[in-house]
Amino acid sequence: MDKLLISGGAQLQGSVSASGAKNAALPILAATLLASAPVTLTNVPRLRDITTTLELLRRLGADLSRENAADGSTQIVAQPTPLTNFAAPYELVKTMRASILVLGPLVARYGKADVSLPGGCAIGARPVTVHLDGLRALGADISVDGGYIRARAERLRGTRLVMEMVSVTGTENLLMAAVLAQGETVIENAAREPEIVDLADFLTTLGAKISGAGTAQIQIQGVNQLGGGTHRVMPDRIETGTFLVAAAMTGGRVRVTQTCPDCLDAVLRKLRDAGAVITTGADWIELDMQGQRPRAVDIHTAPHPAFPTDMQAQFCALNAIADGVGTVTEAIFENRFMHVPELQRMGADIRVEGNIAICRGIKQLTAAPVMATDLRASAGLVLAGLVATGETLIDRVYHLDRGYDNIEAKLRGLGAQIQRVK
Ligand code: UD1
Repeated sequence: MDKLLISGGAQLQGSVSASGAKNAALPILAATLLASAPVTLTNVPRLRDITTTLELLRRLGADLSRENAADGSTQIVAQPTPLTNFAAPYELVKTMRASILVLGPLVARYGKADVSLPGGCAIGARPVTVHLDGLRALGADISVDGGYIRARAERLRGTRLVMEMVSVTGTENLLMAAVLAQGETVIENAAREPEIVDLADFLTTLGAKISGAGTAQIQIQGVNQLGGGTHRVMPDRIETGTFLVAAAMTGGRVRVTQTCPDCLDAVLRKLRDAGAVITTGADWIELDMQGQRPRAVDIHTAPHPAFPTDMQAQFCALNAIADGVGTVTEAIFENRFMHVPELQRMGADIRVEGNIAICRGIKQLTAAPVMATDLRASAGLVLAGLVATGETLIDRVYHLDRGYDNIEAKLRGLGAQIQRVK
């Protein structure tokens, strides 16, 4: 099993480009199931979750080819082909919850889907009730049997959907279902994440009629069929944010290119509070810490445009070495502090009370062998390793490979001493 070995202490300097967004590429790949003509996707990141999604779509009978682009990203071409199978099996869904994203497209286009229920995961229970309630309201017959969601439908019918809670993949599933429904669908209390806008842009390229994506109310005028087209996946705002926190923690100066400054307002605000000087251009963000130690910041996670839960672990790492006391309140997932005991093993002074992590920053973390427990927790540990004295060995790096495209090479390019050991 791969591990990462980090020698802490280097001040990060230089430029790094953001990869395509995992959380945009996954729903967009699922949405290729809706296309009736060839689709080309560019700027697809090289991640284990993408490989898992391609495997899932191929098992359904999709015809997908993958090529490496000159910029290190992947280009995926999907040829329209009738599917032969409508089941997302447990063995795949258990490795990647986002497999649930095939549910909406399968029901909308083929009228049937058998998708394994994802179940809980390390960070919380994560039910999918709002996905199922929404599809039922669109006219699908949904039951749960033997751990599988069984969905059957004639053509879906547009309706007004009021989502009981704000769910990102829930909104995406219902959006993908509604584009082929008969008549108009309105999704109320929709999630507003930029990745939903990217999915809507892709669907619009295919011929869907959507307005309001990125707001809490999305209107969809159903069409009979979607065509094909080319789409470039938006930049990964969480990867971008992770590099910026790395720069801030090491007192360095880093420019992230090919990214989307407008997607990161809440994160940039907190980095400025921490003392960073930040400048932005149309597609780049530069953070200059001017050699200073960051100040501790208070974070409260909430749906977009508020502070993203996927950046929480990274800010716990920042607070661990910051000047002062910072609190991190996790309001989205019930068990997302698994990085805290690992940071404590590196000397961090953090106390967890319910869903709040209270951290008194110390000047210097010390290296220790630590274990990655989920994707973003792993990122927090990498950041801690970059500033700890000595060599930090991070086990279970496969969590990181799910969502970070070649993180060690990108960090090495900024001057970090980090290598993968087999
Ligand atoms: C997506 C992101 C993930 C991010 C999360 C929150 C993808 C592929 N993943 O996950 O990286 O951390 O948004 O920003 O885009 N909930 C329910 N019932 C439901 C649905 C959700 O109670 O039917 C709860 C969840 O348990 C969680 C909260 O709502 O506590 C938010 O979950 P949701 O927005 O659905 O997260 P995902 O779409 O799974």
